[in-house]
Amino acid sequence: MNPLLGLLQAYPFERLRTLFADVTPHPDYRPISLGIGEPRHATPPFIAQAFADALNRQPSGLASYPSTAGDPALRRACADWLQRRFGLQVDASSQVLPVNGSREALFALAQTVVDPGACGSVAGEKPWVVCPNPFYQIYEGAALLAGARPWFVAADPTRNFAQDWDAVPEAVWARTQLLYVCSPGNPAGAVMPLSEWKKLFTLSDRHGFVIASDECYSEIYFRDEPPLGGLQAASLLGRHDFRRLMAFTSLSKRSSVPGLRSGFVAGDAALIQAFLLYRTYHGSAMSPVVQAASIAAWGDEAHVVENRALYRARFERITPILSEVLDVALPDAAFYL
Ligand SMILES: Cc1ncc(COP(=O)(O)O)c(C=O)c1O
Repeated sequence: MNPLLGLLQAYPFERLRTLFADVTPHPDYRPISLGIGEPRHATPPFIAQAFADALNRQPSGLASYPSTAGDPALRRACADWLQRRFGLQVDASSQVLPVNGSREALFALAQTVVDPGACGSVAGEKPWVVCPNPFYQIYEGAALLAGARPWFVAADPTRNFAQDWDAVPEAVWARTQLLYVCSPGNPAGAVMPLSEWKKLFTLSDRHGFVIASDECYSEIYFRDEPPLGGLQAASLLGRHDFRRLMAFTSLSKRSSVPGLRSGFVAGDAALIQAFLLYRTYHGSAMSPVVQAASIAAWGDEAHVVENRALYRARFERITPILSEVLDVALPDAAFYL
């Protein structure tokens, strides 16, 4: 067995299930699950229709192997969305790649970029993968299985749960190969401002690490201004080649289709090229049926506006009730209180 598997923790929801095993809920109340945070809104019918059409077409969308790079039409749809949402010009053929949900891609990127034996480290010392804390559990597992060590950066509750990047010792940055950032964040919903991006780009330039920008909540927001994206920040700072930066975007929350398993990555063409090579061997091509549904989803914004309104209405109902007993406030973005 791969000894690194022994370093993995039980997945949090497994741990939660164990903790709940002996709990009998009060019979007078309906329990509210505080487990996995997943979209509960109905699948937009036009996405399901695009899926069914691709399935039933002759020859069927299941009749041949898809390429790992994906249908150029899907890559174009992703690039067009980046243009509309963030004002970005990206090359659909070299700077965009479809992924089967951002989770597998966040994991796979660590396997692609981490060099466990290098980084100018003292012999036998593993490189660092820097992660926010609290954090999405995949970052830790990805770092450990890539042969690195996770270094956690605490969110600061006195600064709207911003990460305290200055608390990372220079010696850690010097041996960092990958940095995960999550904006809007899970679970605090904080959005990273341009000044923080600038700081991270400077550190990446100095130490050569890759930045993985997890943006799966970017479309669930409650302020007038949509959250700043990592590629958008790079572009605003004149980094039009997105060097050492990859953004992870997903349809799961935006379009309420977590079961579709569809997202894309975009950014540094050299990184995308290496990632494509890794994924070709790993076998992570997206089903053509899923690709067809995804093209439809990325091409429509009306359902996303509607989805945001549904979340806003839910926050408006629950926040006054919970605020009687908990310190809760509407987050910048994402669907967590
Ligand atoms: C912060 C964060 N990133 C990524 C994901 C993965 O989403 P998906 O694989 O559905 O794109 C999740 C899912 O809950 C998440 O909370």
